Amino acid sequence: MEVVGASDAPVAANVTAPAATAASLSSPHLLDLESLSPHEIRLILDQARAFKDVLARTIKKIPTLRGKTVVSIFYENSTRTRTSFELAAKRLSADVINFSVATSSVHKGESLYDTARTIEAMGADFMVIRHPASGAPHLLARKVRAGVINAGDGTHEHPTQGLLDAFTILERCGRIEGLKVAIVGDILHSRVARSNLHALKRLGADVVFVGPRTLVPPAFERLGARVCHDLVEGIRGADVINLLRIQLERMEKNFFPSIREYKLLYGLTSERLRAASPDVIVMHPGPINRGVEIDQDVADGPHSVIQQQVTNGIAVRMAVLYLLAGVREGRARPAMPG
Ligand code: CP
Repeated sequence: MEVVGASDAPVAANVTAPAATAASLSSPHLLDLESLSPHEIRLILDQARAFKDVLARTIKKIPTLRGKTVVSIFYENSTRTRTSFELAAKRLSADVINFSVATSSVHKGESLYDTARTIEAMGADFMVIRHPASGAPHLLARKVRAGVINAGDGTHEHPTQGLLDAFTILERCGRIEGLKVAIVGDILHSRVARSNLHALKRLGADVVFVGPRTLVPPAFERLGARVCHDLVEGIRGADVINLLRIQLERMEKNFFPSIREYKLLYGLTSERLRAASPDVIVMHPGPINRGVEIDQDVADGPHSVIQQQVTNGIAVRMAVLYLLAGVREGRARPAMPG
């Protein structure tokens, strides 16, 4: 295990975490957005707003979680989520451990349960877990005393991605209620699509899932999304377009004839973008497949907020850690050092 964060770096003196509102989350874990109330989602977004102001300061570090240990356990690859959680925890002065599954005793047959129990015995306060099996974080939360944060479980949910997407929409559009949000691509295999839907529906958006029939089955209407199989029709008048990559690694059969055909029918080009609202924002959780679901000039164009999503991920994950610490300590907010 590699200790990548310690609490001995410069910390802003006499700085306490900025409060959003005096309220608390109801669970010491963040496992999904489906079980969060609109109030809880707004609470996290408000707190993230306050932390974004902290991140704009010269000294970006505050002592709120000093003495706490955050362990990230990623059974799947990650660039954004893992780095973002690490930075978020460090900004709050927690110690951060990146548990490397690739070089661990997982490869000698150790189970998720025993791995987590071992990490817990070393004093972890939070476990940030990404796992290919849907429901793995929920299972873990029943077995360990540490706070469990889902960093993506199979095709189920990716709650902090859903929150940072909602935060970015709110920041750019000033509201979420009444907006048309088109989520385009491989919805079937997307935990991001599910978390976005739960957050955005609770905050009053009109969500449409767009993609081929095989990847956007009508059953999604039961979750509250509209379903459309024509790209231009689906994004017409949209305030937000969130593009998803094709997750070939989760496909056990062919869901469309070829990547070339997918791009021809569902790739977002500048020309197709004209069907959306003139002020549309274009989002993508990453990793991007340029030239497939999104053209180069759209990904880097004036409507793109992809980089802003990544930046906002740190503030949102700080808010999640901070609020969960408050729940674990039995009060609305964690204890503040002098
Ligand atoms: N959006 C997202 O989950 O990216 P990573 O897989 O790089 O963490």
